[in-house]
Amino acid sequence: MGSGSADIQSEYTFLQADMRFDHGMLTPLTCSAARMLFPSAGRKIFKCFTMQRAAHTASSNWPRVVNSVRIRHSLKCRGLLQYSCRAYSIVPPPRDDEEKEAVHRMLRVDHAGEYGANRIYAGQMAVLGRSRTGPLIQQMWDQEKKHLAKFNEILAENRVRPTALLPFWNIAGFVLGAASALLGKEGAMACTVAVEESISEHYNSQIRALMENDPDRYLELLQVIKEFRDDEMEHHDAGLEHDAESAPGYWLLKNAIQLGCKAAIYASQRI
Ligand SMILES: [Fe+2]
Ligand SMILES: [Fe+2]
Repeated sequence: MGSGSADIQSEYTFLQADMRFDHGMLTPLTCSAARMLFPSAGRKIFKCFTMQRAAHTASSNWPRVVNSVRIRHSLKCRGLLQYSCRAYSIVPPPRDDEEKEAVHRMLRVDHAGEYGANRIYAGQMAVLGRSRTGPLIQQMWDQEKKHLAKFNEILAENRVRPTALLPFWNIAGFVLGAASALLGKEGAMACTVAVEESISEHYNSQIRALMENDPDRYLELLQVIKEFRDDEMEHHDAGLEHDAESAPGYWLLKNAIQLGCKAAIYASQRI
């Protein structure tokens, strides 16, 4: 053994003695001294010393280390860890390519629908935001923002590509919302009734499909879609309560918008 190793060995023996002597003031000073005197081996000594000190503390003060409070705390941490390490969000991993394609198409069109609804309410607010109908439109828009945020999250978690038509729905949605609002409050509400009816029917068809497929497997996704469907139905009813049917050319307007919604759904599933 060379002189360097002998020095390290003697320093380590000294550290052990020091640890037995005092765990408070002396240990940090001694470690610093060891690291200054033996820069190459100082880190190893420090690591070894820290481990030994932890073992010593645990063995001498075990009632403080293992007690009911600490056990409860560790169990709580484990629960949080399990919660944050879920295998998937609300969509189960697909069993095959066919299921993957079907689920992705479903999520893509839902996301596109919520995106379009947001743009429609943005257009309506641009025209009627300062009118007495403004707060009602804002309230529905706020719910649409939550729907869109949820689908943004689901798409990201499941690596689903959004529709390539989003830039188009951005403009088309805003123009539809603003144009309907230019017909007055009734026009905006007629647009709301037409769009929300289409989205509700679309969600209902998805709920039927998932229920027929495997309701237990898609339980969480079903809960989200049902909740959003109920919100859309509320928007639809609010539109009717606020004189949607009094809009000029209500029947024609509603059917034209719903035809557009069907085309949008068809295109967003595929593109
Ligand atoms: Fe929505
Ligand atoms: Fe809605």
